[in-house]
Amino acid sequence: MANVSLKSVEKKYDNGFQAVHGIDLDIHDGEFMVFVGPSGCAKSTTLRMIAGLESITDGEIRIGERVVNDLPPKDRGIAMVFQNYALYPHKTVFDNMAFGLKMQKKSKEEIRQAVEEAAEKLEITDLLDRKPKEMSGGQRQRVAVGRAIVRKPDVFLFDEPLSNLDAKLRVSMRVKIAQLHQRLKEEGNPATMIYVTHDQTEALTLGDRICVLNKGEIMQVDTPANLYNYPANKFVAGFIGSPSMNLVKTVIRKSDAGLFVELAPGVKCFIPRAKQVLLQEQIDQAVYFGIRPEHISLANDSDTVNTVEGMLTVVENMGNEKYLYFKVGDNELIARVNDQTITTADIGCTMRFNLNTEACHIFDVENEKNLTIIQG
Ligand SMILES: Nc1ncnc2c1ncn2[C@@H]1O[C@H](COP(=O)(O)OP(=O)(O)OP(=O)(O)O)[C@@H](O)[C@H]1O
Ligand SMILES: [Mg+2]
Repeated sequence: MANVSLKSVEKKYDNGFQAVHGIDLDIHDGEFMVFVGPSGCAKSTTLRMIAGLESITDGEIRIGERVVNDLPPKDRGIAMVFQNYALYPHKTVFDNMAFGLKMQKKSKEEIRQAVEEAAEKLEITDLLDRKPKEMSGGQRQRVAVGRAIVRKPDVFLFDEPLSNLDAKLRVSMRVKIAQLHQRLKEEGNPATMIYVTHDQTEALTLGDRICVLNKGEIMQVDTPANLYNYPANKFVAGFIGSPSMNLVKTVIRKSDAGLFVELAPGVKCFIPRAKQVLLQEQIDQAVYFGIRPEHISLANDSDTVNTVEGMLTVVENMGNEKYLYFKVGDNELIARVNDQTITTADIGCTMRFNLNTEACHIFDVENEKNLTIIQG
């Protein structure tokens, strides 16, 4: 059991590239923490520094009570699972899983027990005699996880462990990893897990908390629900959620009816009262207006305020719902609707949409911070 704490951690690679700019992060004992962010944002670098596979150039990393800055990987109480399983091709599943324990000179009986226990957890007991090439990608990945489990690490580190698998297998392995975390907790041996992915669905479904990274800096650390509902800045707002939040650069204006933004000349959207009080300094200033696709619907005749006319440009049928792309002036927006009537034949038509601005966000144009967070 161990918490992991990073204080002002920096990484400058030998070629002079500064990959990590002073990261502060406390990962709780037994927590499932996900690192998410676009390619090159330093997810792997950060994970590898925690593992000890990469040195840090400044700051401090603690695992449990120990500062591990200068501790080799094998002494850190961690086990890492990579994207490319890295199994020994000529060894059986049993021997692959047993290898680390053999190196630690554990007794045969102890090794057998640990391997069987882990195999049972991952439902690969039937595969213990097979070689890696005789298994599917998902089965191999489970062996790679099994090899980490047998070592009973305090901290599991996963670097995109599922990205080699097809979409369906990814989902089932994702569930397995979540169950493993839950089961270890129920058995009284909670393990801290740090999981790197660029897949936001994986992040949202697995993480107790998610750390969103961009260009070697932390953008926000919070629960999946809070990241989604209260994104701290424009980056997180645009990164978390699919399809992405609509973001329009516009200006806050004041009228007798309250504050509003224009999505196109003369197309007004009024900001809810509770958020207006937070925007008094932004009047006549440029801002980004953000609204999620699910908060835009097809307007009814009874909708009179915050309706906009838009020209339909694309219809994406997702089966249970549709994504409607439409243009309001120069801005293209996406609505996520449950509608049986609209088809690609309607492309080019002008339709009325209703914006539920209660759920809108306003971001500062300079520092891109969310100005409208009212956390209840
Ligand atoms: N050995 C290295 N020397 C110099 N720069 C490096 C080295 N390794 C990585 N980088 C750079 O550091 C940055 C972070 O890389 P890192 O691999 O941590 O990104 P990542 O978030 O894991 O990306 P991905 O999602 O593509 O795996 C990138 O800009 C990368 O080019
Ligand atoms: Mg990476």
